[in-house]
Amino acid sequence: MCGIFGCILKEGNAAPLIHSSLKRLEYRGYDSVGIATISDGKIFMKKDQGKIDEVHKILNLDDLPGNLGIGHTRWATHGAPLKVNSHPHTDCTGEIMVVHNGIVENFMELKAELQNLGHTFVSKTDTEVIPHLIEETLKNNPKLSFVSAIQESIKRLEGSYALAIISSRDPDKIICARNESPLVLGINGKGVFCASDIPAFLPITNKAVMINNGELVILTAQGYEIKKISDSTPITREPITIEWTAEMAVKQGYPHFMIKEIHEQPETLRNTLRMQDHYLDLLTTFLDRANEVFLVACGTSYHACLAASYMFSKLAFLPTYPVYASEFVEQHGKSVNIDSTILAVSQSGETADTLAAVTCAQQRAATILGLTNVIGSTLTRISRVYIGTQAGPEIGVAATKTFTSQLSVLAQLALKLSKKRGKISQDEMDCLEENLKKMPEDVETIVRTQEEKIKQIAHKYKDSKVFFYLGRGISTATAYEGRLKLMEIAYIPSIAFPAGESKHGPISLVENGFPVVFICPRDDSHKTLIGNIMEMKARGAHIISVIEEGDEEIKALSEEYIEVPKGIPSVLSPIPFVVPLQLLAYYTALEKGLDPDMPRNLAKSVTVK
Ligand code: G6P
Repeated sequence: MCGIFGCILKEGNAAPLIHSSLKRLEYRGYDSVGIATISDGKIFMKKDQGKIDEVHKILNLDDLPGNLGIGHTRWATHGAPLKVNSHPHTDCTGEIMVVHNGIVENFMELKAELQNLGHTFVSKTDTEVIPHLIEETLKNNPKLSFVSAIQESIKRLEGSYALAIISSRDPDKIICARNESPLVLGINGKGVFCASDIPAFLPITNKAVMINNGELVILTAQGYEIKKISDSTPITREPITIEWTAEMAVKQGYPHFMIKEIHEQPETLRNTLRMQDHYLDLLTTFLDRANEVFLVACGTSYHACLAASYMFSKLAFLPTYPVYASEFVEQHGKSVNIDSTILAVSQSGETADTLAAVTCAQQRAATILGLTNVIGSTLTRISRVYIGTQAGPEIGVAATKTFTSQLSVLAQLALKLSKKRGKISQDEMDCLEENLKKMPEDVETIVRTQEEKIKQIAHKYKDSKVFFYLGRGISTATAYEGRLKLMEIAYIPSIAFPAGESKHGPISLVENGFPVVFICPRDDSHKTLIGNIMEMKARGAHIISVIEEGDEEIKALSEEYIEVPKGIPSVLSPIPFVVPLQLLAYYTALEKGLDPDMPRNLAKSVTVK
């Protein structure tokens, strides 16, 4: 995890820009922050534990001299979130400063080796071996340039890294390198920038250069030079234009990114539904040919995969296996083969577990398809074909708009495949396409008409010790996602089950006033679901139902109900039905005085396994 940023400006001080850019990367982690700059050949540095605003209040991060610098916002992996473990990290002389995102897997061996050579370490981090390794390389080869010393040193690193390094020994450069952790450059007339992610520099420039694994970059005030770490082969790569505007990456008047992103869903769905047919057709062809299809993802993206498995089965008669990416290698690593197809779904395109699953499958010659929100991410580069979800940057740690965008792409794929295979009638197809087209409107209606009511429900149930989320069929995926949202941002332990399974254990928890959220589209499971509601009610549960407008039967059984527009087909239901659950989680977090954008212990992009 962690966010890194660096810049060399033609004029002016770098520190305030590094500070504001790190703020835009805070979704990658916020355990500590640090900035180092160079002025007149000398290094200056400030760092401490805590969120950027807290640290800035005490240290004034803007008050560092020099037009060149690097910064870091941390999500702790090795070493507690303390000042001593904050980046930048330095060597024994204090002349080399390193910020790092990733994990150096062989750091223990390297550290022991360097300690034996007399190096003193102050932190518990893996990162600290890097400046000491560079220092040692230079000591042994005094004629080596600083860049070559870095290049030689990082050849010894095993694991993942995006690095930005500065030194008073070569004070006009920032040297970056990448292996498995994201790194991107930004360019404009005023300077050059490197960052973990595009939103960091979006207000400054929309010209970006993607950096690949195994590449080293030398930034100077004149521009950038890319070469291969292994053999110094120069690489020419022109900037691409990023269509996201700076406004898309800020809060636009909402108190939190999460609520802004929930409200954006009509628009992001519209954009996603405008997707070029060409890509959908291509992906559909691969799915059609596949012998077996694994839908691989983590977190919210996994829930999209779970919903998709129902879509593909019901519409295209294609059986698929949704698999947690972190389990894929253990579960299917030996059996996946040339006839397997992996559809990897990842908002960030950088989740380590998802990439590890994909890499395993790729090594066994499987076909890799990708669905991601971040074009240029690692997933887009290792997929045979990929589709972008067009949701724009998502900053809130809890995924919302990217989930509904993923669902709408997956639904389009299932429909295309169904058409190709001739599996459903033209009337049914027309109805589904029509409904998908009006999904943005339906979501708009839900937010407009139900938000106030959901606020009241959140107020009433904010002190509940535990919640149930239940649904049948495809609504199981909706229930899982609703429960994840509440747990991750409101910290209320929550349980989700297929409603039919709830009587095989979970029901023993139910007592008077126990809140149970039921997801109730009007589909084939409606009658059976009413039975499940009755079972819960008989034990004193309070039913909070998400129903179709005018579903009087379930309304009469519910303490609270939230309505979505009528006539939504079951296979598309997770898109509108999840929206009230996102709002419920958001307002419950507010009721509890929590910051929904920065849930404790979580990060937006999990780039460690
Ligand atoms: C983290 C985020 C979740 C996200 C998951 C998978 O846990 O907090 O919101 O669903 O990673 O991320 P991805 O980028 O692969 O969809």
